[in-house]
Amino acid sequence: MIVTFAHHKGGTGKTTSCLNISGFLHEYGKRVLVIDCDPQANATSGLGIDPCSDRLSMYDVFMSYAGDYPDVGLADIITETKSGIFLAPSSLDLVGAEPYLYTIDNRAAILKDAIAELGDAYGCILIDTPPSMGQFVLNGLVAADRVVVTFDSGIFALKGAEALSTIMGDVETYVGDTVVADVAVLTQWDKAPAAPVSAEGFGARLKQLFFGTPDSGDNGGEKERLTAFENDVKKSFETVYTVPFDTNIQKAQENGIPLPQFAPECEAACVYRKIAEQLNSQ
Ligand SMILES: Nc1ncnc2c1ncn2[C@@H]1O[C@H](COP(=O)(O)OP(=O)(O)OP(=O)(O)O)[C@@H](O)[C@H]1O
Ligand SMILES: [Mg+2]
Repeated sequence: MIVTFAHHKGGTGKTTSCLNISGFLHEYGKRVLVIDCDPQANATSGLGIDPCSDRLSMYDVFMSYAGDYPDVGLADIITETKSGIFLAPSSLDLVGAEPYLYTIDNRAAILKDAIAELGDAYGCILIDTPPSMGQFVLNGLVAADRVVVTFDSGIFALKGAEALSTIMGDVETYVGDTVVADVAVLTQWDKAPAAPVSAEGFGARLKQLFFGTPDSGDNGGEKERLTAFENDVKKSFETVYTVPFDTNIQKAQENGIPLPQFAPECEAACVYRKIAEQLNSQ
């Protein structure tokens, strides 16, 4: 099973979802490989590996397909992390590989080809991609059996269904019929909105933040906006999961381990466990 996490907007929870779902799949006894296809290398550091340039990384794997660069396969760069999840690490260098990829004919299928060389060494492969629609995302989508699309409740939500259909169109254009984008993950769904709200709504939000008062009254239409957006997403995805804002997420990432090993019973972990269960059962 190869699952790619994608969304062209930054900060929607791709890396967080990838790492925590990996963690639960690992708990289920799967041999899990995370491929970090993002030059930001957040999945790499999130698994406790320093994304330094003197280590072989995805940069070398992609560059192997360009010109006379030495032959480096995924198997050469994979390392076992402290959580037991295997990682094909990234580094900032990766950004420098992208221009070379444009010289390669079958450039969208490089990752798919590199994964094929691994044979059946891993039960699950999860691919983290950068916030763009460049070559690395394309490679992630082409390699995938399934695509998980992550959404935050901020600016993207303001664009609503229009941007959602753009993503679905992109996925279809680039990968044809072979990949299913059937799982959506709404992340940090109850976080204070980035968008301005009415003075009244702002007061209610502050009260909620400082005193933990349930948001029962007028919140400047924020609740309605989120519900409407959630319903829009449900029209396009078979399964939609909602992950609440949970500070354990950042703490786990700082410690270089996924939630099942850090706070297995926290609210966000419970949702990620369900997503992993679904992916594991299909
Ligand atoms: N449910 C959550 N609760 C609290 N914090 C979260 C949650 N989900 C994600 N975050 C935090 O939000 C930030 C963005 O998440 P993440 O890095 O996973 O997004 P991304 O889509 O991978 O970003 P990028 O597009 O830059 O790669 C991170 O700091 C992460 O720790
Ligand atoms: Mg990321």
